[in-house]
Amino acid sequence: MTPSDPQTGATGRQVLAQTLGPLADCWGSERALSIDGQPLSARIPQTPAFLYSRRCLDQAVAELREHLPGEMGIHYAIKANPFAPLVRHMAGLVDGFDCASLAEMRLAQDVAQPDQRLSIAGPAKSRAEHRFAIEQGITINAESIGEIERIAAVAQTVGRQGRVALRVNPPFALKGSGMHMGGGARPFGIDSEAIPALLERRHQLVEAGIDLVGLHLFAGSQSLNGEAIGEALGAWMDLLEDWQSNTGFTPRELIVGPGLGVAYHPGEHPLDLAQLAPAFSRLGKRIAALGERDGIPIDARLELGRFLVAGAGVYLTRVVDRKVSRGTTYLLCDGGMHHHLALSGNLGAVLRRNWPLLAVDRMDEPATEEVDLAGPLCTPLDVLGKSQPLPPLAPGDWLAVLQSGGYAASASPHGFLSRETAIEYLI
Ligand SMILES: Cc1ncc(COP(=O)(O)O)c(C=O)c1O
Repeated sequence: MTPSDPQTGATGRQVLAQTLGPLADCWGSERALSIDGQPLSARIPQTPAFLYSRRCLDQAVAELREHLPGEMGIHYAIKANPFAPLVRHMAGLVDGFDCASLAEMRLAQDVAQPDQRLSIAGPAKSRAEHRFAIEQGITINAESIGEIERIAAVAQTVGRQGRVALRVNPPFALKGSGMHMGGGARPFGIDSEAIPALLERRHQLVEAGIDLVGLHLFAGSQSLNGEAIGEALGAWMDLLEDWQSNTGFTPRELIVGPGLGVAYHPGEHPLDLAQLAPAFSRLGKRIAALGERDGIPIDARLELGRFLVAGAGVYLTRVVDRKVSRGTTYLLCDGGMHHHLALSGNLGAVLRRNWPLLAVDRMDEPATEEVDLAGPLCTPLDVLGKSQPLPPLAPGDWLAVLQSGGYAASASPHGFLSRETAIEYLI
């Protein structure tokens, strides 16, 4: 075993606690990984499958809310997990939805309560998406000056103003984030240096059919660095205060993506929300002060996905075969990259790293061997684990991949090699 792998010798329970922190309780405390006191292998009829826990979703949202200023809302970014029953459940927990397509807007409308706010983001939105958003009063996060012109043209034909928030491409990136979406040249958002001129033109935009309701601030995703997240939130507010002083613009709607990450790999630790709470509190106070200067109450929302859903999901797969090839032990499983691209390291990872994999029915046993795990696809890309510490497993044993509630099922090529899709369950 690699002595540097912190999971070496650890039991499944220990890996679960290190990975999920307070959310670990949602998966039982018995010898088997369980939900509502029932082992997953008894509760779910077959593998491969995704299982999402309602209790875990409730807890993730409640914990975040507990550390936010009371007036700050939460928007769930549906792209993280668009499974309709899960999104419906989220509607009872959050204050609105961020959508990324026509289908996501339709789903959000279907489940949202009347007072919940919706927005759509993403470059190259279609005319149909603009039209639907304008007709339904959904805020459009504009990603370019050209998009503002396209929204205006559709608004003229619909005969209704488009609610538009300018998505800002900031002059900084969220440090330590797995995915940078700001700093430098980006397809996302309008460069921050071009924003003041647009804000100056806001009254002309009204005549063109654009109601400039606010700003959309998103600098990156998947950061486990609490200090960097706090710094980015502060840097956003510096920009907003500057723009207010120079242009007199106060947003009515403000959407801020904090980029909260989750622990996916050995050695990573869950974010400590208590450590982040002061940064959230400063953010709330600076937003309130911005609004007070103009007598405009600012409706501010945090927009995030994975932090709310990743830990609430497991991907379940079964060992089909165990074999040794030239000294390496392989577990060949019925699940693979076609269901869980990120697990195989093919969803934006520069280097593939192991994920938290647990032996579902042997959570109290220490990892005493190191194995490679592969899926059923006839490609060397179909990797589930390499030198992965696990208790000794045999065909028929179940494995659970933690942190599979976001960017997993819907972010994977289910049609690849025409194998069966994984069934999703919300329990
Ligand atoms: C505009 C926007 N909002 C929200 C998110 C959700 O990010 P996360 O799931 O990491 O919170 C993303 C992710 O790429 C995004 O692009």
